[in-house]
Amino acid sequence: SGEEIIVVPGDGIGTEVVPAARRMLEHVGEFSFVEADAGDAVKAETGEALPEETYDLVAAADATLFGAAGETAADVILPLREAVDSFVNVRPARAYPGVDAVRPETDVVFLRENTEGVYSGHEDRLSDDLSTLTRVITTSASERLAEFACEFVADRDADGFHVVHKANVMRETDGRFREAVLRVAEERGVDADEVLMDAFATHVCLDPTRFDTVVCPNLAGDVLSDLAAGLVGGLGLLPSANIGPERGLFEPVHGTAPDIAGEGVANPAAAILSAAMLLEFLGHEEDGADVRAAVEDVLSDGPRTPDLGGDAGTDEVTDAVLDRL
Ligand code: NAI
Ligand code: MG
Repeated sequence: SGEEIIVVPGDGIGTEVVPAARRMLEHVGEFSFVEADAGDAVKAETGEALPEETYDLVAAADATLFGAAGETAADVILPLREAVDSFVNVRPARAYPGVDAVRPETDVVFLRENTEGVYSGHEDRLSDDLSTLTRVITTSASERLAEFACEFVADRDADGFHVVHKANVMRETDGRFREAVLRVAEERGVDADEVLMDAFATHVCLDPTRFDTVVCPNLAGDVLSDLAAGLVGGLGLLPSANIGPERGLFEPVHGTAPDIAGEGVANPAAAILSAAMLLEFLGHEEDGADVRAAVEDVLSDGPRTPDLGGDAGTDEVTDAVLDRL
């Protein structure tokens, strides 16, 4: 019955918020679910943070919903992103009415390159004094990201996007990135403005309304999207999507939250919003929009979890979202 969704709760509050998101998916559609293990707990049991069965399931499925892994996060999430051949990490940072935010007018989506840059794993220790890192930028990955960005802004009826880079210093690597992205935008008739990544950090804090969609190399996208998370009131609200040509992996931006894990009070909003992105990826666009609207209503009217100043638990908030649907 319906599309198959792989569900990987992981550790800590992943095991609380992913079931909440699954309840939402069961409520709106006819999906079949396969649960799989990854993270610290399965490593303690078997020695492997990412069992081969899990990797294979994710690599073959249309869509995966992931929670979070603890200390083993990098051993789990990097291979899983690769399993879906994810070339872009989509991270919307949006402030919600009724939620305390540094910049309540923030509504920015980061499109982060997800395969190369300084995260491509080419680090070397050359001597007791010297370590080096090779930054990898290819025209093909930059173009693929830019093509995605052009379609993304067209879907949102937006005018264009900003491309963030530091090509004035990293002339070769970011020069290549900048040139490829701007060329694709021009070919597609999409407006692309450029902004240096350090200046962007200042501008987005002072006036986030200057930005709508932001296209970034890997590290810049990681850091700047976390900065934007700070502007909208914290990690419990931010969803993300790792998109590949055929498959997707959807995960809240937050981790396992060991300080509140096991208490049943984790905010399920980020996981539910990640599952809304999953619905859209599978072509259920109306359902995705309905879920987002329901979450927005609940954030605004309550009940709310303690991270947002409320006293409700994960289940109560999830029930409220399902009621709205
Ligand atoms: P974290 O995101 O787990 O927690 C940071 C703070 O935000 C904590 O105070 C936590 O209680 C709060 N928080 C996060 N999500 C929340 C939610 N849904 N509801 C309410 N409060 C929430 O980040 P931290 O503490 O840096 O990392 C904890 C563990 O998570 C580490 O072992 C780290 O490796 C792992 N991690 C895993 C990630 C992944 O699997 N993708 C991503 C980030 C961290
Ligand atoms: Mg990060």
